Amino acid sequence: MAKAADFSVFSVLVTGSDRGIGLGLVKRFLMLPSPPKWVFATTLDLNGEETKEVKELACEHPNLVLLQLDVTVLESIKAAVKEVEKCVGEAGLTLLINNAGTWFFKNLENENAKDMMALYSVNTIGPLQMSQAFLPLLKKAAQRSPREGLSSSKAAIINISSALGSMEVMLIWEKGQAVSYRCSKAALNMVTKCQSLEYSADGILSISIHPGLEVKELACEHPNLVLLQLENENAKDMMAVYSVNTIGPLQMSQAFLPLLKKAAQRSPREGLSCSKAAIINISNALGSMEVMLFWEKVQTVSYRCSKPEITVEESTQGMMTVLSMLSEEDNGTFVDWLGRRIPW
Ligand SMILES: NC(=O)c1ccc[n+]([C@@H]2O[C@H](COP(=O)([O-])OP(=O)(O)OC[C@H]3O[C@@H](n4cnc5c(N)ncnc54)[C@H](OP(=O)(O)O)[C@@H]3O)[C@@H](O)[C@H]2O)c1
Repeated sequence: MAKAADFSVFSVLVTGSDRGIGLGLVKRFLMLPSPPKWVFATTLDLNGEETKEVKELACEHPNLVLLQLDVTVLESIKAAVKEVEKCVGEAGLTLLINNAGTWFFKNLENENAKDMMALYSVNTIGPLQMSQAFLPLLKKAAQRSPREGLSSSKAAIINISSALGSMEVMLIWEKGQAVSYRCSKAALNMVTKCQSLEYSADGILSISIHPGLEVKELACEHPNLVLLQLENENAKDMMAVYSVNTIGPLQMSQAFLPLLKKAAQRSPREGLSCSKAAIINISNALGSMEVMLFWEKVQTVSYRCSKPEITVEESTQGMMTVLSMLSEEDNGTFVDWLGRRIPW
């Protein structure tokens, strides 16, 4: 098993790395005893105020390249691939860290389609499309690696998720419902699972990591089934399926809530039951990350996706150790910054 001190990668790209956890990870890679030949940091706006620190770092470290990137815009992603390719050439990209993310803290009552779509677009579709676009470079890295099995020193996609997206944990529900954020990260976890099944044959490991909570996070007979593979899944279809299958039920429930409440209040029954008042969401076992039903027959990615714990320093230090230790058995799992498994 690899040791954290021996961790070395040829190249790494961290999205959303002009601040926060992304910037913290970039600094950690630059500080490694054997730093990567190439570290790519990205920002939404190269001239923005947030870029000051990462620009200073780039002056000190010639292996650090700063790129402008919006993960929701395909042209922007393609332009970033070209820039990275110019640097890494045939050696490819070893590590893609999909870190860029955003959030709103809405609850079930005031959650709405616009915010649900916005978070799904950045937090779920962004990592999916980044991984699609960088796949050829990740494959090159895997092919050239002498290592057996899967590891982050060979080729890997690291999706920075959140334990708020775990349906079993439902972390800090009482403090903040953050419905759209939870949904976007639960769907990102499904993207990870799909990638782990599809890309492992190419020597690429895929994993979801919860970086810990920083202070700010506290504050097939279906009409809408789009049968696409990981390869040709796209933002339009992801949005369309999410809109009908996820946001639709949410908004129906919001709108009918007063009538459901009336039915519940007038019912003489104790406890909860369908005869009293209930919301039944017709889901599908294709959406179960543990079952991953019919994966070999149809991938249907868009359908399947339908107290401060720590500081940035502690989070990124922990994640670097986790990354250095990843192996085949971690492929397609969800872990935290200390490597502990999180239930889906
Ligand atoms: N912080 C926590 O407590 C916590 C907990 C669990 C999970 N996470 C996850 O960890 C990741 C990083 O969180 P953080 O706290 O470091 O976030 P942050 O400080 O808010 O930084 C977010 C980064 O994402 C970038 N970004 C936002 N939208 C983007 C887009 N469309 N395209 C490209 N980049 C975009 C931002 O760019 P600009 O600076 O240019 O706006 C920024 O660099 C996120 O995925 C988050 O969900 C965080």
